Amino acid sequence: MRELKLLFEKNRQWAEEHIKDDPDYFQRLSEGQNPTYLWIGCSDSRIPANEVVGLAPGELFVHRNVANLFIHTDFNCLSVLQYAIDYLQIKHVIVCGHYDCGGVKAALGDEQLGLVDNWLRNIRDVYARSKDELEAIKDDTLRCNRLVELNVIQQVLNIGHTTIVQNGWSRGQKISIHGWLYDLPKGKLIDLKCCVSSPKQLEEIYLTS
Ligand code: CO
Repeated sequence: MRELKLLFEKNRQWAEEHIKDDPDYFQRLSEGQNPTYLWIGCSDSRIPANEVVGLAPGELFVHRNVANLFIHTDFNCLSVLQYAIDYLQIKHVIVCGHYDCGGVKAALGDEQLGLVDNWLRNIRDVYARSKDELEAIKDDTLRCNRLVELNVIQQVLNIGHTTIVQNGWSRGQKISIHGWLYDLPKGKLIDLKCCVSSPKQLEEIYLTS
């Protein structure tokens, strides 16, 4: 299989660019990673995690899936979180949703899409929990945007309730979970100000949202 030559060519150029002024760049990176942040974002191709926050390779630990969900039974995201908290000693977990999210839009629709519907079911549960608030919003885009926000807040709570974060806090480890949005048409991040850094803060948001 020698297709996709373009990508190999782009990789060669990219690697050369990095070592042009810094010949040891990749050697240094290969010795280990010490990222400060874990990014949990949407798989959407328009939101490259490192690039939107201007961080270099090695600075951001990343997990992405459709609609940036953190599900208690998903061993994929649980494994990422455990490694990040227990071994990388990550201090900041960022859940970043985005407006115009295809996954959230699909969860609002009636059309059956297949296997992915079971995944999107989690967003429909978020909708059901805030049905009155959401159905009072008449504009479809604004309603979808609000569901994007509520979905992020729900994932912040889900992460805070894991044994991984709870045990980290009990050990005295500093862990903050942040809920952010990426405003795709503007290219800007928005802080949803639902950060939790302790079990007490977690319960305050859990009981009021
Ligand atoms: Co999305």
